[in-house]
Amino acid sequence: MQAEMELHVGDCLNVMKGIPTGTVDLVYLDPPFFTQRVHVLGNRTRDLEFSFNDLWRSHSDYADFIHTRLKDIHRILHKTGSIFFHCDRNATHIVRFLLEDVFGEDMFQSEIIWHYLRWSNSKRGLLPSHQTIYWFSKTRQFKHNPQFTEYSPSTNVDQILQKRCRDQHNKAIYATDLNGDVILSAEKKGVPLSDVWDIPFLNPKARERVGYPTQKPILLLDRIIQLATEPGDLVLDPFCGSGTTLVSAYLNKRCAIGIDISNDAIALSRQRLDAPIRTDSALLNKGRGSYIQVDQKAVAILHGLDIIPVHRNSGIDAFLKETFDGTPIPIRVQRQNESLLDAGRALYDASCDKGARIMMLVTVGEGLGLDVAYLLPAQVIVVNSTANAVKSALKKLTDCTSKTPDPAYTDTISSNVVNA
Ligand SMILES: C[S@@+](CC[C@H](N)C(=O)[O-])C[C@H]1O[C@@H](n2cnc3c(N)ncnc32)[C@H](O)[C@@H]1O
Repeated sequence: MQAEMELHVGDCLNVMKGIPTGTVDLVYLDPPFFTQRVHVLGNRTRDLEFSFNDLWRSHSDYADFIHTRLKDIHRILHKTGSIFFHCDRNATHIVRFLLEDVFGEDMFQSEIIWHYLRWSNSKRGLLPSHQTIYWFSKTRQFKHNPQFTEYSPSTNVDQILQKRCRDQHNKAIYATDLNGDVILSAEKKGVPLSDVWDIPFLNPKARERVGYPTQKPILLLDRIIQLATEPGDLVLDPFCGSGTTLVSAYLNKRCAIGIDISNDAIALSRQRLDAPIRTDSALLNKGRGSYIQVDQKAVAILHGLDIIPVHRNSGIDAFLKETFDGTPIPIRVQRQNESLLDAGRALYDASCDKGARIMMLVTVGEGLGLDVAYLLPAQVIVVNSTANAVKSALKKLTDCTSKTPDPAYTDTISSNVVNA
């Protein structure tokens, strides 16, 4: 099946006038969000700059703009069609009201929260890490292809395999037959998709990223398109920007119309359609848990210290929250069967480009080269773990003929080794 694609430059209000009534299966729109900013970004090679204006005189000015366009979107939608309206906290309160006005309160289907993790900034208040997508249908006969996600790790095997029913108090119980044996449920597809979607933001190196301001990930559009349309259906994006919706429609074998007021945006959409690229998300495929690669044993050994654990770094386990002369203090725990020199080198190599002036290495192995600690760079401070210090103190006591501890006893093994 050949997915037909149409692109138009112009105000979507004018272009939509040419689309026949009741012919579109899905409208996804990601219009300006009332951010009161001009959004500007450059492409990868920095030879092109894209921008769009999101400055408004007032809320009502913005509301009028959206309202007129929603009325036409309602007209061109097929009776089984849906609209997915993308906005954020700047406009959610306005948009929901307008959607209810044009589509009707009872055509509201979902308020989808697109959640993503972001680097923190220093702004006061909570870090925004979601946007909202309102789903309204034109009628009650809207298309909906149920989607399923994986069971959560806390779901036990009985919950997955056994059929459930309700008892006389309307409490969910496992169903049993007349002999009291459990009844296995029909094929389990997973957990029905919820209205909170954890889809990563496009990272700066993603191949899919084209440098268009506020470019959305294709994976987000894939989910919407698969949820509300069939192959061959017609999808419209009246504010298509870099053409994300069109690329997703093409890859999912749907036809699409893209409109944007900017010539640059339409030229970019065309380029993307000529060579469609979707960046797979390792995070989505493997789950967020796969990224939690902090060495739990090492972190346990650092218990009691105020630290920030570091993930996916073979040289550094954590940073101390306090700094040394304004520089970070990386810390690493020696692994079992790892020599002190190897541990020290791994820490030193990983820390040098982090601006650290001192690095803390916690020893755990017994007799694994403590005597050569002096061979490590002077910046690496070797600290004996509590377990090591206790073991070594006991050994000294056991070896001592008098068996009476010296009150001033210290367990200094070498000059740059400090006891825990
Ligand atoms: C938030 S961006 C869309 C980004 C897009 N979803 C993407 O992934 O690249 C909003 C777009 O709306 C366009 N726009 C603003 N006013 C418009 C109008 N009246 N008609 C059509 N497009 C408009 C802007 O040029 C901009 O490209």
